Amino acid sequence: MDVIIDVKRHSFGELLVLEDIGIHVREGEIVAIIGPSGCGKSTLLHILAGLMRPSAGAGYLDGKAVEGPSPRWGMMFQQPSLFPWMQVAQNVGIGLRFARLPKAEVASRVAEALRLVDLESHAEANVQDLSGGQQQRVALARSLVMKPELLLLDEPFSALDAFTRAALQRDVRSIAKRLGLTLVIVTHDIDEAALMADRALIMAGPPGTIVEAVAIDIKGPRERKDPEVRTARERLMKSFEAAAAGPSPGAVENSPAADAADAAVASLVVAQA
Ligand SMILES: Nc1ncnc2c1ncn2[C@@H]1O[C@H](COP(=O)(O)OP(=O)(O)OP(=O)(O)O)[C@@H](O)[C@H]1O
Ligand SMILES: [Mg+2]
Repeated sequence: MDVIIDVKRHSFGELLVLEDIGIHVREGEIVAIIGPSGCGKSTLLHILAGLMRPSAGAGYLDGKAVEGPSPRWGMMFQQPSLFPWMQVAQNVGIGLRFARLPKAEVASRVAEALRLVDLESHAEANVQDLSGGQQQRVALARSLVMKPELLLLDEPFSALDAFTRAALQRDVRSIAKRLGLTLVIVTHDIDEAALMADRALIMAGPPGTIVEAVAIDIKGPRERKDPEVRTARERLMKSFEAAAAGPSPGAVENSPAADAADAAVASLVVAQA
């Protein structure tokens, strides 16, 4: 699914949270949006998911302005928010049951989704008996079972230990590539971007805006220790630190950093057909 974010502005009351955000994510691409806490990452993702309308501008999915949630895109949050009284398979199948699909189809699609996330042997388990990482896999399966074309991930692994997180980062990238899914991951974890993304966008703020785009062109599976991954990580760290230090708000308009930011954004914005 082709994704365009063209948010001119978003405010919560007096607070300007997002300003001039232009992003184009191509079908099948994995893009990480990295930014410090409070710069507006979740707000941006909520707008794209159709959970919120921006004050000015819009998100466009396959050329159509987003006006509300849809099964064509799924969202994963930091907490898996499963139904604790339901077994794994029931949690995964809930969206399909709401869509009133026949029982047999629900069962086969749930089984397929559980296979994708490596949980087929836990179908009957109670979700409270699973580890945090397994619960996040259930949440992933619950999204995948709807056969979305786009997955929006909001720091989905930040509550997990390092080993579990690494395994999920690797698996989610490989599942997305296998299924041709478009992925937008919001994170403040630079390693996550280096390990998962085809491209990372550095966000600064408030108000949140994209200040730099970094291509991470690494073929094949990625490991933290790979020299290419380490190089990407260092490159991102530099940009991230520069963005976090940022120009002072009063100096934004004429600073070289702001000019560079404008150029970066201009190169990202894709004119609407
Ligand atoms: N519903 C809301 N009403 C009022 N202010 C909000 C609302 N949601 C977010 N904000 C404010 O907007 C700003 C951006 O919030 P947002 O949650 O998008 O940041 P974030 O980049 O996702 O941060 P984090 O990395 O901590 O999750 C913050 O100042 C936050 O307090
Ligand atoms: Mg957030």
